[in-house]
Amino acid sequence: MAKKLSKLAICLLILFLIVLGISAVLLWLLIENPLQDVPFTPECLDTNLAERIDCIPDELATEELCHRRQCCWRPQENSSAPSCFFPTNGGYKVTEGPTYADEGFTAKLRRLPSSSLFGYDITDILLTAEYQTTNRFHFKISDPDRKRYEVPHEHVQQLDQKAASNLSYRVEVTNNPFGIKIRRTKNNKVLFDTSIGPLQYAEQYLQLSVQLPSHYVYGFGEHVHQQYLHNMDWKTWPIFTRDAIPNDNMTNLYGAQTFFLCLEDDSGLSFGVFLMNSNAMEVALQPAPAITYRITGGILDFYVFLGNNPEQVVQEYLELIGRPFLPPYWSLGFQLSRRDYGGIEGLASVVTRTRAVRIPYDVQYSDIDYMEEKKDFTYDKENFNGLDQFAEELHRNGQRYIIILNPGISKNLTYGPYERGSRKRVWVSGPTGPIVGEVWPGPAVFPDYTNPQGTQWWVEELVQFHKELNFDGIWIDMNEVSNFLNNDSLCEPNYLNYPSFIPRILDRRLFARTLCMDAEQHWGLHYDVHNLYGYSMTIATAKAMESIFPKKRSFVLTRSTFAGSGKFAAHWLGDNDATWNDLQWSIPSILEFNLFGIPMVGANICGFASNTSEELCRRWMQLGAFYPLSRNHNGPGFVDQDPAAFGVNSVLLNSARYYLNIRYNLLPYLYTLFFRAHTRGDTVARPLVHEFYQDSQTWKIHQQFLWGPGLLITPVLYSGVDRVMAYIPDAVWYGYETNVAISQRKEWMEMVLPRDKIGLHLRGGSIFPTQEPAETTEASRKNPLGFIIALDDKKEAKGELFWDDGETRDTYGKKLYFLAEFNVTRVRQLMEFFKVFFSQLATD
Ligand code: GLC
Repeated sequence: MAKKLSKLAICLLILFLIVLGISAVLLWLLIENPLQDVPFTPECLDTNLAERIDCIPDELATEELCHRRQCCWRPQENSSAPSCFFPTNGGYKVTEGPTYADEGFTAKLRRLPSSSLFGYDITDILLTAEYQTTNRFHFKISDPDRKRYEVPHEHVQQLDQKAASNLSYRVEVTNNPFGIKIRRTKNNKVLFDTSIGPLQYAEQYLQLSVQLPSHYVYGFGEHVHQQYLHNMDWKTWPIFTRDAIPNDNMTNLYGAQTFFLCLEDDSGLSFGVFLMNSNAMEVALQPAPAITYRITGGILDFYVFLGNNPEQVVQEYLELIGRPFLPPYWSLGFQLSRRDYGGIEGLASVVTRTRAVRIPYDVQYSDIDYMEEKKDFTYDKENFNGLDQFAEELHRNGQRYIIILNPGISKNLTYGPYERGSRKRVWVSGPTGPIVGEVWPGPAVFPDYTNPQGTQWWVEELVQFHKELNFDGIWIDMNEVSNFLNNDSLCEPNYLNYPSFIPRILDRRLFARTLCMDAEQHWGLHYDVHNLYGYSMTIATAKAMESIFPKKRSFVLTRSTFAGSGKFAAHWLGDNDATWNDLQWSIPSILEFNLFGIPMVGANICGFASNTSEELCRRWMQLGAFYPLSRNHNGPGFVDQDPAAFGVNSVLLNSARYYLNIRYNLLPYLYTLFFRAHTRGDTVARPLVHEFYQDSQTWKIHQQFLWGPGLLITPVLYSGVDRVMAYIPDAVWYGYETNVAISQRKEWMEMVLPRDKIGLHLRGGSIFPTQEPAETTEASRKNPLGFIIALDDKKEAKGELFWDDGETRDTYGKKLYFLAEFNVTRVRQLMEFFKVFFSQLATD
């Protein structure tokens, strides 16, 4: 009996252990293994409408789909808030850590049970955070088990970690669900908080939402933004480089810029956020205020920069990605370009007539019509017979010559560059060999500039061609990369060409008018590196220019950009239209590219497409004289729009000449601003909010802007208008021509700007270095330097001048420059100073 009982007890014990084991396994599956189809009940709290995170960003939201995604369905009439939004219980949780060290911390995260949006979610991910500098925090979220694509950036490198001190921020991690919060130490304000939405981390879909402390957000590109300050009312901006007509339909354009700046309040305190990721993505802005990133690949790799003011934030950002190149002095001069001049005679006649009307004019361009059958590294020996001598003649006249080059290389067996590139195997290739697209020269292949061999081939071709045609700079175009084919029937139906999530890009096809996403490049799949095509071509071109001009700075102008492009090149805003609308949005775009570290930027003055009108072109020439990059460029077949075309006595010509002379007079000031951009990361064309953040009126101004801290530019941007409402920020402002101080301050005033005038005002307290203008900078640089001194209320002023020979490489590094700081405390002292300064200059 006792034996039986003990047997029964043993059986019961075994049974008990089995049941316990099974329940433990079940429990483990339930809790730990999110891939199991476990019951998940979305927690749908009554989230504030503004804080809802959209759960169906990719298609029309329906109740059925919303339930399938296990999100919350609450349609709301008269609101742009999403009907289907994420529940509060989802995302990831911390399973290990955070483990802290002096330099930062790490934590392991695991996916919480919830339904998958686009499949292939990654269960375990790793957070690595670094306190990189006093004002810069870096964190990334990656897959610890399988290396995902990361941007091989030219400038941003892994830090040799030393613990940063005096951090201006504090970081907190919440465990379940996972969230990261960055606070400003000084006032405890939360700047960046991801707990507003659930992190998603799948093979081809990353999502992170960030709640911000204010609605004052600037940046992201490249887009046509009608205003500089973002509209946070449910706007989604796709980021994926694309050759598209810039219009205001919220389309993706030429460049990929993922940086934004947020002004916290009128103390000026600001911060910036940069996402180092080159995959196709979109950013959704909502009134919480919050931003949601939806990204098709790579990793989450964020940098957050804190500043005491907006300028400092830009400086911090540019220190990371690379500060802008110092442009050669001549490139600050006026530039003229068009497509289809009508052969060398047409080209020469425009140059002649422009010289004849004596307007300052430094640079002449040639567009694709100079080429033989639109092939790079050739010129049309028939229609452009004598082009080499033409270039020399420009040089003799103190002018410079820039030619266009495109990445599409003619697939033509008798064409040397193609033949040599093929031997070196430098073309971007797909599963069946080099990708063949269609661009200007017809069927074309595309160099892989991420491949060192590709760069070497490009450099060699350029060096060779320079022996034939003595150009001074290169304009690189179509590098998004652009292909005239839409590829619909050409790209394989696979997960790269047709991922389940596609951001709101034009055509909703990643490969449309570019390459198939499964093409391979040295840096990775085109799927991952598409946004870097222009960036890699820019670096290769800058290298080529260094081979050609080892001692002198050259000039590269690129259409497609990425973070860091400004270290190598300037940018123009692409194929705008000759409309008032396009004149207007040029200002927000120029201000944005100053945030992105590409301050040498401008729009095609007078518009590229369509026939311009006298009035539009006149107003555009007036404004364009104050674009950092001042280039008039026209499309094929449209009426001439070079200033001389409007007639020797035209108001347009006289006004253009007048303002270009003022530009040239102020070039020492502009050049010094570029020096500050190059060495400190300052903006050149500056939004008013950067100087006058205490005054909330300035936060949304984009119809006026500044050169540096001191010159206020107020253009006319509408047809039929000769007066504008101008904002007068809180300072003394003197009319440039009148020297008379405006009596208003911190007020809107009606500024009368007759047909030949743009508003120009000098800020009291500034000293502007100047130089008497001439028709080229080569000539003007020989003229006397001078100053304009605008005293403030206390009768004081200050300024600075950077001066060098204007073209030697790295004069700053080699200390071949003159830098002076000027300070006026009393006018008489100033006169003494002048005497000494000029006598010294004369003896130098
Ligand atoms: C692209 C450029 C434009 C150029 C044209 C021909 O459209 O953006 O500036 O004129 O190509 O090369």
